[in-house]
Amino acid sequence: MGRVVVAGSINMDVVALAERHPRVGETVAGTSIKYFPGGKGANQAVAAAKLGAQTLLIGRLGSDAFGRELRAFLVSQSVDVSSVTETADAHSGTAIITLADADNTIVVIPGANGLLSTDDVAGPALSKGDVAVSQFEIPLPAIAAFFARARAAGATTILNPAPMRAFDLALHDLIDILVLNETELGLLAKTELHEADEPARFADAAQSVLRRSDQIVCVTLGKRGALALIDGAPLLVPARAVKAVDTTGAGDCFVGALATQVAQGTPLREALGFANIAASICVQRMGAAPSMPTRAEVAALLC
Ligand code: ATP
Ligand code: RIB
Repeated sequence: MGRVVVAGSINMDVVALAERHPRVGETVAGTSIKYFPGGKGANQAVAAAKLGAQTLLIGRLGSDAFGRELRAFLVSQSVDVSSVTETADAHSGTAIITLADADNTIVVIPGANGLLSTDDVAGPALSKGDVAVSQFEIPLPAIAAFFARARAAGATTILNPAPMRAFDLALHDLIDILVLNETELGLLAKTELHEADEPARFADAAQSVLRRSDQIVCVTLGKRGALALIDGAPLLVPARAVKAVDTTGAGDCFVGALATQVAQGTPLREALGFANIAASICVQRMGAAPSMPTRAEVAALLC
């Protein structure tokens, strides 16, 4: 079985819970405040590790209290943090999250994540069968260098371009599996997509962003599940009917779970079903990284 190697962000999520979201310019009284380990890179690494993959995270933390807490948490989740370096030049990444009605708004302050460099991704060994995973909360040159090394080594690359920003074709060409939500797909495909659109609309948009015929695109659709385009054919994976309490990190859980399955050599259709179940467990719990399920929890729901 290959390893999962994630290059990505590590944040402390400062979560304000409220009865409803404030409108712009409005103040509402919150009900509580929580501090959860998060950041898309850390969330995906924790998901992969809990789901059974040997997992290495490449990232940066500030030399501050959040940084120490985040590192200790990652170690406790069996994530290899030997490539997470500490920098005195910036604070640890921090996300300010408002959560109401199981829906969130997020402002991310990258801090140390923004200093992740091409040198940081040059060290860890990558081998055939490994899965290299990244997202857009770290600088794009570091992701491109990481993916170029990964593909040269025969590893599979998974990009979760969130939060979406413009990226060049050279990076696009290095992606084997692209996992993104409908808003991100709409931005990339330069078309307007809505949650309630027909699956064919998502399939067409996914088709339009392919750069190679062997690239796979998977659109996560929240409570509707996910739609993947595999060898040009759409596959709809319906979500499990569950009561979501906090969807923060659901996409990250999906990506980390998918990476674990690909590293194990599981056929893609089965891997997507597994990721969909894992993410349905995640949304029923509070917080990002702490809400990732274990392998046994997912296995118990697989028929
Ligand atoms: P986030 O940015 O909050 O992490 P996202 O927009 O990247 O989320 P979503 O598409 O909302 O990701 O969700 C990812 C996956 O989580 C879905 O494809 C689905 O498998 C699962 N999921 C999300 N919401 C629900 C829900 N309400 N019920 C069941 N499964 C869900
Ligand atoms: O995807 C969820 C994550 O996005 C949160 O944990 C937060 O840190 C932001 O980066």
